[in-house]
Amino acid sequence: MNKTSFCVANWKMNKDFNESIFYLEKLKKIDLSENKSNIIICPSYLDLHELVKYKEKIKGIDFGAQNVFSEPKGSFTGEISVSMLESIGCKWVILGHSERRVVLGETDLDIAKKMKLVYESKLNPILCIGESLLEKEQKETSVVLKRQINTAFNSIDFKKNKNILIAYEPVWAIGTGVAASVADITNNIKIIKNIINNIDTKDCNIYLLYGGSVDGNNASNIFSINEVDGFLIGTASLSIESFYKIYRQI
Ligand code: 13P
Repeated sequence: MNKTSFCVANWKMNKDFNESIFYLEKLKKIDLSENKSNIIICPSYLDLHELVKYKEKIKGIDFGAQNVFSEPKGSFTGEISVSMLESIGCKWVILGHSERRVVLGETDLDIAKKMKLVYESKLNPILCIGESLLEKEQKETSVVLKRQINTAFNSIDFKKNKNILIAYEPVWAIGTGVAASVADITNNIKIIKNIINNIDTKDCNIYLLYGGSVDGNNASNIFSINEVDGFLIGTASLSIESFYKIYRQI
């Protein structure tokens, strides 16, 4: 591997505290020293505080939240702020996951507000974008990607150096066992690159991930696409064996 790469586990709402510790204890026993790919584990908010301590125990691992609220502070019962995540040593945060967009009604504008707050903080965003099946069938993929990226980046004042991960996750490929084809990913990642190249993101390091039914059988093919810098993995990240199988192909 000679490009900077990322192997991101999105555990969604699947692991409780004991299961999370069990997983990390298993990961701790694996020799990760040969592979320089960055592992980012995104557990539940509840467990983040305890799990970030594993940064000291496992070299090359980091942690991210699965979401953050769009306001910095105040009367927002049940929400978690950017500064709360910063204060526990969390480094990354997933924004705009399709499950939040579709199931929880998050809009492009909500995501834009979050992007701005995160950009100005010590956190780094993992922005999720991707078209639905209907949008794909109606050949609207590039319009959707453009709208999602432009809105998310619109209110950012790009003045400081930042790592930004953009995860291309076609909604129809998430949790279905059917990943997008290498041809489709190549094409859509190129579209994403073009959109970004038209925005003055100054010195930001922008990396492109693919997500949607990544597994041990398709990872190396997808990673062989030049512009793909890693994966955002759901189902296959839940078992250490299947996650590690993907990681080894990066
Ligand atoms: P799956 O890997 O289960 O398709 O989920 C992808 C995803 O949503 C990661 O954020």
